[in-house]
Amino acid sequence: MQIVFLCSEYEGLLKTGGLADATRGLAQALRQQGHQLTIVLPRYGALYELPVQQQWQSVYVEMNGQQLGAAVRHLVQDDIQITLIEHHDFFNRPRPYDDGEHAYPDNALRFAFFCKAALAYLAQLPASESPAIIHGHDWQSALGSVYLKQLQQLGKLQSSRFVLSIHNAAYQQGLGWHDLPLLDLCRDDIPQQAPLSMLSIGVLNASQLNTVSEGYREELLSEPAANGLSQLYQTRQADFTGILNGCDYSRWDPATDHSLVANYSAADLSGKALCKAQLLRQVGLADSKMPLFVAVSRVTGQKGFSFLIPALAQWLVHSSSLVVMMGTGEQQFIQPLKALQQQFPSKFRFIEGFDDDFSHQLEAAGDFFLMPSLFEPCGLNQIYSLRYGTLPIVRATGGLKDTVVGLGKRGATGVSFEQPTAEDLMVALQQAESLFNDARKYKTIQQRAMNQYFGWDQAAVKYQRMYLRAFNS
Ligand code: ADP
Ligand code: GLC
Repeated sequence: MQIVFLCSEYEGLLKTGGLADATRGLAQALRQQGHQLTIVLPRYGALYELPVQQQWQSVYVEMNGQQLGAAVRHLVQDDIQITLIEHHDFFNRPRPYDDGEHAYPDNALRFAFFCKAALAYLAQLPASESPAIIHGHDWQSALGSVYLKQLQQLGKLQSSRFVLSIHNAAYQQGLGWHDLPLLDLCRDDIPQQAPLSMLSIGVLNASQLNTVSEGYREELLSEPAANGLSQLYQTRQADFTGILNGCDYSRWDPATDHSLVANYSAADLSGKALCKAQLLRQVGLADSKMPLFVAVSRVTGQKGFSFLIPALAQWLVHSSSLVVMMGTGEQQFIQPLKALQQQFPSKFRFIEGFDDDFSHQLEAAGDFFLMPSLFEPCGLNQIYSLRYGTLPIVRATGGLKDTVVGLGKRGATGVSFEQPTAEDLMVALQQAESLFNDARKYKTIQQRAMNQYFGWDQAAVKYQRMYLRAFNS
C-alpha cells in the first residue's frame, strides 16, 4: 500500500514528546512490512537545515477566499520519503506549537493549511503514486478528513481513505463558529452535539479511528477522560479501536545503546551498575547502594506532578533513595521541583531541559522509573524502562495499565497504584524501596521486565487491519 502520514512530529526531525517516537516507529515497521511510506510534516524553523532534494513543487490552496501557496520539498531517510510543507509565515518559527509560554494564536489556521496543502500535493500525483491511506495523527492533521472529502467531490483522490490516530485526546484545538468559513468548513462537517474542535471534526469524519492503547480507548467512552467527546466516541465505537504503541528496539535496547558508558542485558546486568555510577557522578550525587528513581517527562499536569511533588517532599525526608528527573514544561511544577533540589541536595536532582542521550542514560542508570500519570494514552517511557530493567512505578491508567503488571500480581514487571494521590504514590514508593532491599526478588522481576516484547511490528499488523477496514466501511 501507499501510505501517507500527515503529522506534526517525527523522531529525528522534530520532537516534543512520544508522538515523534510513535510516528517514526510505526512508519519504519510498516516500511519493513513492505509498504511505501511518505511522511508529510510542516517545515518548521528547525527543518531549514535539512538537505532537501533539488526538485520541489508548489501548491496553492484557497482558504477563506484567499489563495495561499506552499513549496513542497522532499528528502529520503531509511527508504521513507519525508515531504515538507514550506510556508514561511506559518511554519518558520523556532517552536512548533507555541512561543515557549503561549500557544500561537493562529494554530488552527496553520495546521488547517498544513492539511490542505498536503492534500493538494497528493492530489497532483500520478494515479500510480496516489495514496491508499492518508493517516492523520492528533488534532494537527484531523481536518485532513474533511479536506479529503472535499477533493473527492471534485473527483480527486477517489481511492484514498483517511484514518485518524488519537495520541492524546486532551489536546483538541477548540474552534468557534466564526472559524468555520476561515477554515473552509461547513455545518455538515461538524459534530452536532459535541464541543467544536479540530479533533472532534476529525473523529466525526475519519473512515477509521484508533487511540494508542485498549485501556485508553475504554476510558474515552466516558467522561472525564474524553474531555466532552464521550458521546461522539460512542457513536463511532464500531470504527474505533485501541492499538498499543510499540518500542523501537533499534534505539531502545541497553545491549546496543550507543549513549551508554556500558551495555548490558538481562543475562549480564553488570553494565547497568556502571551506568548508575557514571550518572550519579555526572549529576553530583554520591555513588551509593541507595535505590535510584529516575524520570524523563514533559512537565505537565498529565504526568501527575500535582501529587508527585508533595509525595516526594514528604518521602525524601526519611527515605534512603535518590531521585533524578529531567524535563521541560510548566513553571507551576518546575519551580517546586527546583525547590526540592534545594531542600534535598544530597538526594534529589531536577534537570530542566531535554537531551536525547541523557534520556537514554537516565533509563539505564535507574533502578525505578517514575511515571505516576493522571492519564496516559499509551506512554512509551515505561515500555523503554521495562527493557532497561528500570522497574516502572505507574498509576494504573490507560496504556500504563496495559503494559505494566503491578507488584503482588502474577508476572509482576513493576509497581502500580490506583488513586492519583500523594498517599497512594508514597505507598508505591515504599513498596519499591522494600523490593529493592530484597535483591533476589528485585532481580527476578527486573529480568522478567527486560524480557517483555513490545515491538512496533505487532502494532503495524493491527494498523494494516485498520487500513483494510477503512476500505470496507
Ligand atoms: P508523552 O508523549 O506524553 O510525553 P511518552 O512516554 O509517550 O509520553 O513519550 C515520551 C517521549 O518523549 C520519550 O521518548 C521521552 O524521552 C521524550 N520526552 C520526554 N520529555 C521530553 C521533552 N521535554 N522534550 C522532548 N522529548 C521529551
Ligand atoms: C502522547 C501521549 C502518550 C503516547 C504518545 C505516543 O504524547 O501522551 O501517552 O505514548 O502520544 O502515542
